[in-house]
Amino acid sequence: MKIVSTPAELKRVLKEQFKDKSVGFIPTMGALHEGHISLIKNARKDNDVVVASIFVNPTQFLKGEDLDKYPKKEEADKKICEISGVDILFYPNASDIYGEDEVSILAPKVRGYVLEGASRPGHFNGVLTVVMKLLNIVNPTRAYFGKKDAQQLNLITLMVKQFFMDVEIIPCDTVREKDGLAQSSRNVYLDATQRKEALKISASLYEASNMISKKILDVKQIRDKIVEILNPLEIIYVEILDREFNPIKEVQIGNSVILVEAKVGTTRLLDNIWI
Ligand code: PAJ
Repeated sequence: MKIVSTPAELKRVLKEQFKDKSVGFIPTMGALHEGHISLIKNARKDNDVVVASIFVNPTQFLKGEDLDKYPKKEEADKKICEISGVDILFYPNASDIYGEDEVSILAPKVRGYVLEGASRPGHFNGVLTVVMKLLNIVNPTRAYFGKKDAQQLNLITLMVKQFFMDVEIIPCDTVREKDGLAQSSRNVYLDATQRKEALKISASLYEASNMISKKILDVKQIRDKIVEILNPLEIIYVEILDREFNPIKEVQIGNSVILVEAKVGTTRLLDNIWI
């Protein structure tokens, strides 16, 4: 595995050594876990060359968020990439990616400011800007994103379409711990008691899916049940929407998503299921 730290060098390597090859790309912020590995494995299956990036993007953290304490596991991450089949790891510094007085991408005014965007206003401007930069540096055939961050996936897909970009966005299923907790780099913030409490999030989604399999499709009824199961966690949102993120009154099987964000201690955890 080759490790590259500047955009110019990455462009040069891709041009000189991998010209005319299909390129699969997995952008990450490191502290890699099974969820990231599954994205890498999907990319490995579909492409000649696999490029992953590790960059804790400062512009997507709001003031007071966990930028400074975001888990860093450089050596372990490099090993994981190598074992999982990454050919080139892009590991830039902030100064390789950002300059001063920058052009940036603005998230759409409605879809960028609901759900996660309502409690973290401006977060998706940072996500879209860095993803645009990374896609332009790597110029991949396909880029892989987790459904766990459903709104991020939705907005990146929208950006690629609206900016006529030549990359296929591949959504990948959420990988969970054995007990149901969605894998996340932020799970390391949880102590043993919080780790148990956090299971209420996946449990509430499983119960929702159970209700739906019993033909209970009324959104209000399902939402009330989720809220009841999450108690006493601090709920940031519980939403049942169609796959374009529009509100619905009844779950439509094959076209709905249930999204939950809740705080366990000071850690915000996201999860969702696609119905
Ligand atoms: P990060 O949180 O490191 O996630 C990188 C990718 O892994 C994202 O596409 C995310 O949805 C996916 N992922 C995370 N947990 C997952 C899980 N349990 N199962 C499947 N996929 C999972 O998301 C980001 O970084 C950043 O916002 C980024 C897109 C890199 C831009 O900075």
